[in-house]
Amino acid sequence: MRGNFILKFPASYESGQIRQIAMSADKKKIGIIGFGNMGSAIAGRLKADYQVFVFDKDNNKTKDLLGLKLCSDIKSLLESSDILILAIKPQDFESVLPEIRPVGNNKLVISIAAGITTVYLEKILGKARVVRSMPNLPAKIGQGMICLAKGKYAQNYDLAKAAEIFAHLGETLEIREGLMNAATAISGSGPGYFYYLVENKSLDEAKSYAKDYFIPELKISAERLGFSIEQANILSEVTTRGSIIYLEKTKITAAEAREQVTSKGGTTQAGLEVLEMRGNLSQAVQAALKRAEELSRGA
Ligand SMILES: NC(=O)c1ccc[n+]([C@@H]2O[C@H](COP(=O)([O-])OP(=O)(O)OC[C@H]3O[C@@H](n4cnc5c(N)ncnc54)[C@H](OP(=O)(O)O)[C@@H]3O)[C@@H](O)[C@H]2O)c1
Repeated sequence: MRGNFILKFPASYESGQIRQIAMSADKKKIGIIGFGNMGSAIAGRLKADYQVFVFDKDNNKTKDLLGLKLCSDIKSLLESSDILILAIKPQDFESVLPEIRPVGNNKLVISIAAGITTVYLEKILGKARVVRSMPNLPAKIGQGMICLAKGKYAQNYDLAKAAEIFAHLGETLEIREGLMNAATAISGSGPGYFYYLVENKSLDEAKSYAKDYFIPELKISAERLGFSIEQANILSEVTTRGSIIYLEKTKITAAEAREQVTSKGGTTQAGLEVLEMRGNLSQAVQAALKRAEELSRGA
């Protein structure tokens, strides 16, 4: 599944710790709540290897499912699955979490929502085993960068299960949760910055630009936000490689890809506004981080 990108990864990364633990994790029934952009992309990547149950309150989104099991409500989805993935918007957590609470302690609960902390999840779900994650757009084609952090009651085994699941969407990296907003600003919003900066370039020019400018700059920004050199390497290289392969595979333009990744009022938009004002990448990352912090709940 590797693309033909030009960059090499550090050897230590290729034998990353999470990946090794993940090899031994069991395969389970997975329930996904929210079948929008990310929920449908995740379901599509998982369905070959897992039994995937889905529920979305918008019936139109779950018409014509292939290889997935549709549930009529959250209750039946909970009955069917061992692992839950919450792929709803941050503002919908308040109404969904109380429905999960009665069974939350028996399942691994994985959230992909920006800014929803494990403390917030645990406050409502009780002593639930929760893992917080931050995927990015190239996850849709299996080229994502997915950062993971476990909550207070989750075990290493739970983290390994989450890593095994997300390995279907790209590269996984365990980080401490305190860096999750920083990950949002680097790998979550990174594709958006890259697409903006290469909008008028050919794919070959974009690749050179990635190697000569974007990756080194993104890496420096990541280090400034507190990532180790190794983590900064992984985040900047995987994010950029995934963004390029996404263009190659989908055949869309960088401008179209930028639109896909830029939600109104989100972290990517905050970073892009800085670039539009001729700010540099580091300043864009800072703006995205600030926005991620503003959006955070339960820090
Ligand atoms: N998009 C990205 O690139 C990206 C990257 C990293 C993380 N994330 C995170 O992923 C999450 C989902 O983002 P998205 O872009 O996939 O959003 P989305 O396209 O709006 O999908 C969310 C879906 O959940 C549905 N929903 C809302 N409340 C529900 C409920 N009570 N029960 C079942 N379904 C419900 C929504 O229905 P309605 O439309 O009817 O409300 C919508 O179909 C967000 O928390 C975001 O922070 C997104």
